[in-house]
Amino acid sequence: MQSRRSKPLLLLLLISFLFGIAVPIAFASQLGATCVADRNCDAGLHCETCIADGNVRPRCTRIKPSDPKSTGTGLAFNRYAWLTTHNSFARLGVRSQTGSIILAPTNQQDSITDQLNNGVRGLMLDMYDFENDVWLCHSFGGKCYNITAFQPAINVLKEIQSFLEANPSEVVTIFIEDYVTSPMGLTKVFTASGLMKYWFPVSSMPKNGGDWPLLRDMISKNHRLLVFTSKSAKEASEGIAYEWRYVVENQYGNGGMQAGQCPNRAESAAMNTMSRSLVLMNYFPDAPDFATACKHNSAPLVDMLNTCHNASANRWPNFIAVDFYKRSDGGGSPEATDIANGHLVCGCNSIVNCKVNGTFGTCEAPPQAGNVPSPSSSTVTSQSSSASVALMVSRLFLFKMAIFLSLFYL
Ligand SMILES: *[C@@H]1O[C@H](CO)[C@@H](O)[C@H](O)[C@H]1NC(C)=O
Ligand SMILES: *[C@@H]1O[C@H](CO)[C@@H](O)[C@H](O)[C@H]1NC(C)=O
Ligand SMILES: *[C@@H]1O[C@H](CO)[C@@H](O)[C@H](O)[C@H]1NC(C)=O
Repeated sequence: MQSRRSKPLLLLLLISFLFGIAVPIAFASQLGATCVADRNCDAGLHCETCIADGNVRPRCTRIKPSDPKSTGTGLAFNRYAWLTTHNSFARLGVRSQTGSIILAPTNQQDSITDQLNNGVRGLMLDMYDFENDVWLCHSFGGKCYNITAFQPAINVLKEIQSFLEANPSEVVTIFIEDYVTSPMGLTKVFTASGLMKYWFPVSSMPKNGGDWPLLRDMISKNHRLLVFTSKSAKEASEGIAYEWRYVVENQYGNGGMQAGQCPNRAESAAMNTMSRSLVLMNYFPDAPDFATACKHNSAPLVDMLNTCHNASANRWPNFIAVDFYKRSDGGGSPEATDIANGHLVCGCNSIVNCKVNGTFGTCEAPPQAGNVPSPSSSTVTSQSSSASVALMVSRLFLFKMAIFLSLFYL
């Protein structure tokens, strides 16, 4: 009797198990574990493949760095590293808010709010005069068009405002590629978004390579928004910091992806210029590419981190800027951020090895069975052939089938 009544339920379970739909009994899995859907993975991970790296078995992959503040906020701001998204606004699959389709490259998969919730703290935004307003846009011959215009900047600035309001210990940095020429155009849009109360004043920025204020003082003073512009004149006219007075930045695009080299971009002083206290590392190709981003964001990103550290007078990058930050074959840009923070905060190989309030150079093993992986975890080395991958996937199916059958018959 009972078994007849429960058959439809069991059938539902079978479907759930086989296709990963609303699996109530599924256990969350750690980094590198085989998965079917994001919900099969622990917090801070999602389920994906990296076919460009010969990695077709869906596995739990990191999308969230460890909190750089997890071992304290007592260091200067230039002693932390922040995950940064290149063209943060250029989201895959969206329409322009003009109503037009977008015929411009896209660089990220999710909204600014989702990026912030996943631990992204540096945002690169291209701003243009458009439709009597300031828009986030790509240019075509230096101009914004309906087909390259994503949305008015105010929308995204309001998302940032909500995030800073809801998270009173978080600090966000915006890098503006600035094409706005309307008088006080940026000041107007930042004021309208409610962000001015978080503004880090240019007058408090170190001018000659000194340390930045302590992170905890920035938090307590509510100086939690750093804004840099690419237009030097706006520092005097609008109080918006001219980026390359404070930051060195390597070449973006293909020119910044040659192994073993970390040249500065044209606008920036040389990477080893000590009169600039912040170091920004770009690592993404000229043409954003969803398929290969997972490969670029894996071992080559960590290699470039080491190369840029060396080129920058042994300074670790404070900002690590990538396309499709969620894509990798395992640890990805979150792991690269953890590595930079480990070196910056405590002199260890990852922030997960730093002790709370520990002295520099005191490292400890990360907690056992935590969901925070050690650098270069096994996923990076498992370059399976397609045959063994097919076997693994079919094993997963057989495993699920076995669970189902035992439920059905017991
Ligand atoms: C561009 O979008 C605006 C709406 O924001 C619309 O009024 C205008 O007609 C569009 N232009 C073209 C060429 O489609
Ligand atoms: C570090 O940089 C120097 C030049 O600044 C170079 O000679 C050396 O080979 C580099 N070392 C590594 C490990 O990249
Ligand atoms: C770390 O230092 C801060 C500030 O001095 C203090 O409030 C906190 O309790 C310390 N935490 C630990 C675990 O020592």
